[in-house]
Amino acid sequence: MRLDCDDRGPRDATVILLLHGFPLDRTMWTHQIGPLADSGRRVVVPDLRGFGRTGTPPCHQPGDAFVVDQMADDLWDTLDALGIGPARPVTLAGLSMGGYVALAAAVQRPERVAALILLNTRDGADDPAQAAQRLELAAAIETSGSTASLVESMPLRLLGATTQAQQPHLLDQVRAMMSAAPPLSVAATLRGLAARPDRTNWTPTWTKPARVIIGNEDVVSPPEVMHALADRLRLAPEDRVAIPQAGHLTPLEQPQAVTQALLAFLDRLDQPE
Ligand code: MLT
Repeated sequence: MRLDCDDRGPRDATVILLLHGFPLDRTMWTHQIGPLADSGRRVVVPDLRGFGRTGTPPCHQPGDAFVVDQMADDLWDTLDALGIGPARPVTLAGLSMGGYVALAAAVQRPERVAALILLNTRDGADDPAQAAQRLELAAAIETSGSTASLVESMPLRLLGATTQAQQPHLLDQVRAMMSAAPPLSVAATLRGLAARPDRTNWTPTWTKPARVIIGNEDVVSPPEVMHALADRLRLAPEDRVAIPQAGHLTPLEQPQAVTQALLAFLDRLDQPE
């Protein structure tokens, strides 16, 4: 499936993909796209399957699951359609669900991935209780045809305490983004997330560059989970970027710090060994 995306920056430049979290869309990267494109990179920012302008796939039925491997397949289809083929490995930057998709893509086609930036995510699977909770929520959303209770409660877990106190408008912004997601897509994605594989044995095999970005106030992918991921990737201290006063949605909560962390990593990739 080809994804609708922003595609900015010089055509022949090195490519970075920005992959959004659940149940959001590409507008969560709004603050990063301009500076990255202005830095001379080609920035591709898709709406993942079911979300934003991509919408639900044809023939989508209640009870379906969007699994992370399908979402990764969508990335390859989209890159091929944009003329970014196997000869041009890309940097994948994914937040939370976007990180799960980035990992799935790197497992599938490591030769097409130059580097990984994993923000506010994890490489482990859901435990049985989390998976069961997601499946229950998916069923409830399909039965009611509404995501209202998720939209009301989830942003309070996603945004850090400091953001909620100092930037309360972001709660409305995140709720608006979530309300735009079709209930059937949200339910199908919940089922796919519940089924995602454990990658903790794979991450130690990744030998190309990587960086993690950590929200110091993230309660969804807490700093200790991110540091354990960084340990498995054997990352140096400079590739474990902690963002103060931010929860799970670091690119929206502390946009400049995240943009800086992305640019510094890309600058290093560009330097000859
Ligand atoms: C996300 O931000 O993408 C979600 O918190 C991911 C998840 O629910 O595991």
